[in-house]
Amino acid sequence: MAISDNKPLRSRRWFDNPSDPGMTALYLERYMNFGITREELQSGKPIIGIAQTGSDLSPCNRHHIDLATRVRDGIRDMGGIPLEFPVHPIQETGKRPTAALDRNLAYLGLVEILHGYPLDGVVLTTGCDKTTPACLMAAATVNIPAIVLSGGPMLDGWWKGKLAGSGTVVWDARKRFSAGEIGYDEFMNNVASSAPSVGHCNTMGTALSMNSLAEALGMSLPGCAAIPGPYRERGWMAYETGRRIVGMVHENLRPSDVMTKAAFENAVVAAAALGASSNCPIHMIAIARHMGVDHTLDDWQRLGPQIPLLVDCQPAGRYLGEAFHRAGGVPAVMKELLEAGKIDGSALTVTGKSVEENLRDVAEPDRDVIRAYQTPLRLAAGYVVLSGNLFESAVMKTSVIDAKFRERFLSDPEHPNVVDLKAVVFEGPEDYHERIESPGLGVDEKTLLVIRNCGPVGYPGGAEVVNMQPPASLLAKGVDTLPTMGDGRQSGTSASPSILNVTPESVIGGGLALVETGDLIRIDLNNCKVDLLISDDELARRKAAWVQPVLLNQTPWEEISRSMVGQHGTGACLEPATLYLNIIEQRGEA
Ligand code: FES
Ligand code: MG
Repeated sequence: MAISDNKPLRSRRWFDNPSDPGMTALYLERYMNFGITREELQSGKPIIGIAQTGSDLSPCNRHHIDLATRVRDGIRDMGGIPLEFPVHPIQETGKRPTAALDRNLAYLGLVEILHGYPLDGVVLTTGCDKTTPACLMAAATVNIPAIVLSGGPMLDGWWKGKLAGSGTVVWDARKRFSAGEIGYDEFMNNVASSAPSVGHCNTMGTALSMNSLAEALGMSLPGCAAIPGPYRERGWMAYETGRRIVGMVHENLRPSDVMTKAAFENAVVAAAALGASSNCPIHMIAIARHMGVDHTLDDWQRLGPQIPLLVDCQPAGRYLGEAFHRAGGVPAVMKELLEAGKIDGSALTVTGKSVEENLRDVAEPDRDVIRAYQTPLRLAAGYVVLSGNLFESAVMKTSVIDAKFRERFLSDPEHPNVVDLKAVVFEGPEDYHERIESPGLGVDEKTLLVIRNCGPVGYPGGAEVVNMQPPASLLAKGVDTLPTMGDGRQSGTSASPSILNVTPESVIGGGLALVETGDLIRIDLNNCKVDLLISDDELARRKAAWVQPVLLNQTPWEEISRSMVGQHGTGACLEPATLYLNIIEQRGEA
């Protein structure tokens, strides 16, 4: 850990620069116009930013507007001065074409703020899916002291006496609606029942997963991720987070001290045990790249697959956020993993202490929700990373492969875990919706639904569309899941064991572009391989005949993003941005 060598705080360059009184006066006067005094601004107290992701457009994070009051109290009580500012909104369920397009936009905006304004440290308010990686990516790039305050999941939703989890209930209700089992009103009310309070998705979707991984990384106070949004403990956590960031500034404890290679490895292991979202590898790799840490899909493949599923949360399990929190939350999971020797307890965290020190007094969890390492819910539950003649990488979340799916597709006694499937190809979500019910499509129990043009360039941003549901005729026969594959993503709340995040994507000439309906594709989970079963000559012929589709942009940002975004397998970063590392050190402000 870098301990401050009594260098003046970087905010002094704005508010108290003896060599430039003119600029100092200019910087000072406007920050006094809402009541902060010159004495405060020139007192040498740390100026702490509160990166506010909540707004009316971001309901998952909206309660951060209230929580910020407690963050301010904490900052003030420790002798800091809070300055709250907005982050570009990223509402997963509200932004078109997809919120994923805006992760990098929010990142860029936050980098400019953290670099360009008089801030000595920052509290990152996180919640909805992409808000967590966007904030952590920016904190990594600039590398000023930063701490995560999660907003927490919504209370558990209920519908007719049964738990109704965010997103997961949608996939289920949609199937019943398409099969004609329920009407429009019941469908709407059923889905809405999963959102009973402030907070983000209450399932182990991307939001709860990424907030849990922020905690596993060491970037939030222990226990922060899982406290439901409306609980009083959430306000306590906001207060303690505000207190702690001031200490971090005095200690000059920065993201580069916490987000090390070991911390990312811990997060991979935690992701498997949590049954975390299939979007996590993308986001964690992006954060690591902006931190300058060598962390790739190889780490996910090396460390994840053998880790068991410990947390019984939807979509991989039964419960929701409240039960996860009450059972012990992330600290309980980390303690299991530490005692099993699977994580590095010496990694430093924002507390200024190691993971192991933080976990010392963690109580025995509720075993109904958080299992012991030796008696897990499922063995070998991490992502597998696949490759083959169609792509360099794709991920598959094995924790959601249930017995029925395994029985139907992966239990050939001669070739367990190997299956040949006939592809039916869709050119995007619109094409899928238009044609999935066509009688002549030939979808049956042995079909692999393939979707393309959905990657970071194609969609743009990368659409969450790979978990395609079977046509109504199959649903009626009880076939509720078919294997799927695509260059898009899938919601972290989905329980589909899809082959996702195919890299490179089709619109830039990835092999997925060459698949035709009727082709046979072999999935071999023993060797982590997916191959199109056609001759090399035929593959070469198709490649030569391929014409890149015309990409139409609706906004300037879509065009800018498409011109520089990378692929899902390497974090879907703005590639030129990954060259800007540790900005404040480059500027001599560290
Ligand atoms: Fe915001 Fe799920 S939609 S967390
Ligand atoms: Mg999502």
